[in-house]
Amino acid sequence: MSRYIVRKANGLSGTVKISGSKNSALPIIAASILAEGETVLSNVPRLTDIENMCGIIRCLGGKCEWSGDKLFISFKKPKSYIVPYEIVTKFRASFLLLAPMLIRIGKVQIPLPGGCPIGARPVDLHLKGLSSLGAKFTQDHGFVEGKCRKLTGTKIYLDFPSVGATENIMIASVMAEGETIIENAATEPEISDLADFLNKMGGKIQGAGTDRIVIEGVKKLNSVRHKIIPDRIEAGTYLTAGVMCKSDITVENIIPEHIKPVIAKFSEMGIEIIENENSVRVIAPSKIRHTDIKTLPFPGFPTDMQSQFTALMSVAEGTSLIVETVFENRFLHIPELSRMGAKIKVDGRTAIVDGTKSLTGAKVKAGDLRGGASLVLAGLVAQGETEIDCIEHIERGYENFGEKLRSLGADIIKIQ
Ligand code: UD1
Repeated sequence: MSRYIVRKANGLSGTVKISGSKNSALPIIAASILAEGETVLSNVPRLTDIENMCGIIRCLGGKCEWSGDKLFISFKKPKSYIVPYEIVTKFRASFLLLAPMLIRIGKVQIPLPGGCPIGARPVDLHLKGLSSLGAKFTQDHGFVEGKCRKLTGTKIYLDFPSVGATENIMIASVMAEGETIIENAATEPEISDLADFLNKMGGKIQGAGTDRIVIEGVKKLNSVRHKIIPDRIEAGTYLTAGVMCKSDITVENIIPEHIKPVIAKFSEMGIEIIENENSVRVIAPSKIRHTDIKTLPFPGFPTDMQSQFTALMSVAEGTSLIVETVFENRFLHIPELSRMGAKIKVDGRTAIVDGTKSLTGAKVKAGDLRGGASLVLAGLVAQGETEIDCIEHIERGYENFGEKLRSLGADIIKIQ
């Protein structure tokens, strides 16, 4: 197991280049197996979740090869319909292979991804959606087995705008017979990126990025080249680090529109923001005003930025309320932040954060990806040294986290 040792930063400065979006790359890699030729994806972040998705595709008989930030994927002769348990349990997004496998092979056996630290995370909406298109599922011994002869377009209303369910249903209906309409669909930028990719392949998808997506099934998809959109959560995390360290930093290679809810909160807190076409600069004052946040599906405040903002609020002036509405157990970082001196009370899905002048370094443990990142941010402003354990969670989602923070002037080292 690896650890980060973080010491109080003497302010950050400079520019950091944001990598491609993990959450966009994962469904797009899964959907690449629909093409018979070679798909070339660029701006792919080299992260453990991505390596694991590639690992599954290789186990199923496909090829996935890296060259720099490019990934070359082909799936000419599938050799198995069984998605291996050992890898699936490492990351939930493996469930995004459900639809592509059903279309490509007509059959799939995939372990239920199960719960994870941030919540139960059921897959009922994925299965309901694909069942209404004509797939048949059985569940036994922790596995879902799916079969389909033919998928037929239909109208699907999602009870909740689930990102993963919207992606699985969109992929399944791209080659279904006739028209599929997804209502109350997720509108996250990653959904639009997947739709752009499928449309380049020859799909006919309209309305991605709105809550009503209309898909006209096609018979064939071609292999294409596609550049993954920048990671809005990675960008938001570095900006939050800059603000916590009362610094002036810039993130580049981003789409500022994608982090609008985060930028809006920064403005409310009295932080100066300079937006350009593909970069955002924050200039933080010496005192940061408190603010309240409520996580919501896009374009609301992202749940994936909640932990980092909890760390930020713990050193802001005054009391902030944080309401987590998307996942039922996403406050794992709070006891660890409290060990560092943060003053936070939790009542159900609400955290009440009383800003304090300073935090103190401590030994803490990352319990999940974004919560782990929030502990690193807290370490940047805490007196003394913070040791963060279980950083494999953090490395699932941040490419070269230590290196990028060091390039901004942070004092962080990784110990294997
Ligand atoms: C994706 C992101 C994750 C982000 C989340 C919400 C990826 C790989 N991960 O996760 O980083 O935090 O969106 O923005 O893209 N739900 C059900 N039934 C289902 C599916 C979901 O009840 O069948 C519930 C979940 O338990 C959760 C809520 O819906 O409470 C949102 O989940 P969802 O949008 O599906 O998140 P993911 O796609 O898993």
